[in-house]
Amino acid sequence: MGSVGLGIDIGGSGIKGAVVDLDNGVLATERFKVLTPQPSTPAAVAAAVAEVVSHFAWQAAVGCTFPAVVQAGVARTAANVDKTWIGTDIEKVLGASTRLPVTAVNDADAAGVAESTWGAAHSRRGLVIVVTLGTGIGTALIYDGVLVPNSELGHIELEGVDYETRASAAARERDHLSWEKWAKRLQHYFSALEFYLRPELFVVGGGVSRRAEKFLPLLELGTDIVPARFQNEAGIIGAAYLASLRQPGPEAAQPEMVVEPG
Ligand code: BGC
Repeated sequence: MGSVGLGIDIGGSGIKGAVVDLDNGVLATERFKVLTPQPSTPAAVAAAVAEVVSHFAWQAAVGCTFPAVVQAGVARTAANVDKTWIGTDIEKVLGASTRLPVTAVNDADAAGVAESTWGAAHSRRGLVIVVTLGTGIGTALIYDGVLVPNSELGHIELEGVDYETRASAAARERDHLSWEKWAKRLQHYFSALEFYLRPELFVVGGGVSRRAEKFLPLLELGTDIVPARFQNEAGIIGAAYLASLRQPGPEAAQPEMVVEPG
């Protein structure tokens, strides 16, 4: 077996993990899921993540997505998880409960990395915007294959409201919208992104991208827009991959060279 990593996707309703084949960007095991504890406090989520890790009897680095701005391992926002996460060092808290090195990354950024490394945006030059439509709207900006982390374009204000509250997949269900009615909101949203950022490509992810044929053809944009390859697995794959990049190489394991004076 080539290199593998464990990826865990922390969402508002479920916490899902799988071992990822990092040579090919595919899951190497079935996914294992536990429900996100409510309230989703750091201690409760950390215990749930440890349960996922022990299901796989995993003993190496772990990559975890988190549905918020994550800077140097610390949650800076908390849109769909308990507010007590704000200011919490995710990597430290999950590292303590799992006793393993943890890399934390914004969920949409992880999805974006998976799509750009192995998926719908593979080898695309210029700006690609990956948009995940779920409970919220997550975005990843990737320029020439390099992630520009923590874009929060799901929250752009249109019609006087944070537009995630109108155009997310959850908003479609909440408001019982037909595909056509939802597509009108998506049209508004993607037109704004196109106007302000002029990407080369939009990639649309999240569970609902499984039904992309119902709504993507209804959008009129000057920019190509395609469904994600990985849908709900993208976060797991991207997080496992990003954690593997943090691994110290063999040279780092060498004892430091001691230079004798004189
Ligand atoms: C959060 C983002 C997250 C997205 C998808 C938004 O509400 O602000 O950080 O990527 O939801 O979970």
